[in-house]
Amino acid sequence: MSLIKEKINTDNLPKHVAIIMDGNGRWAKSRGEERTFGHKNAINAVRNAINACNEIHIPYLTLYTFSSENWSRPVDEVISLMNLLAETLILEEEEIFSKGLRLHVIGDLEKLPELVKDQLLHMIDATQHHTNGNLILALSYSSQDEILKAVKEISTEVKNGQLNIDDINASVFENHLYTKDFPPVDLLLRTSGEVRISNFLLWQIAYAELQFLDILWPDFTKDTFFQCIVDYQNKERRYGKTSEQLENNKI
Ligand code: IPE
Ligand code: IPE
Ligand code: MG
Repeated sequence: MSLIKEKINTDNLPKHVAIIMDGNGRWAKSRGEERTFGHKNAINAVRNAINACNEIHIPYLTLYTFSSENWSRPVDEVISLMNLLAETLILEEEEIFSKGLRLHVIGDLEKLPELVKDQLLHMIDATQHHTNGNLILALSYSSQDEILKAVKEISTEVKNGQLNIDDINASVFENHLYTKDFPPVDLLLRTSGEVRISNFLLWQIAYAELQFLDILWPDFTKDTFFQCIVDYQNKERRYGKTSEQLENNKI
């Protein structure tokens, strides 16, 4: 039993946690290995994040798995990442099923190799009735592209007379994002010590709590996750209000 997990207040859990899983390359290099060794060792950390979420019933987990910018990495690394992704999806299918998780993907699926795309579409379809939590993989994902896509779709609706400019608001806009069916991100984690967002969920993290961890992704454990939740619960989310206003509302 985890002592850190015991400290979690189950009445104040984030609904949506998003993770920038960074530092695989450095983890491998520090062991004198190739970068791909780091990616292979990242799988266990992914399992840890999923299991931790599942254990405390966090309904939405989004994992930044491959960015649009990651296509510019050396071809060998991209191929090995795509192979690892295909392999892992097949190997973990049963586990995702038995946990009752529903799989979603955000990003430009069309750019992915056929094998990966087909396996993803199969799993998205096969898990669509699962209600025990949502696992969202950001793959070939760029938040700026997602926002531009929304702008183009909304502009087309205005041009065709289906939408009035004055009726464009945050909720209309959100309906054109990949994440339209998910709540906003409450907690964003990034491993590897980098303090940047790297084109991830720019709109969706407007009021998220951000935590930048000094550990490298393959070292991420369930207790790391539980500690992040405890730290999240020690923050006051004011949404522009004052502490006093929030205190008064509690009464
Ligand atoms: C994250 O680890 C995995 C992906 C971006 C696919 P990195 O591969 O970025 O590892 P570092 O940041 O170079 O150490
Ligand atoms: C962000 O990590 C993307 C993923 C974790 C999938 P990167 O390693 O690609 O980010 P930068 O290049 O350091 O900003
Ligand atoms: Mg990196």
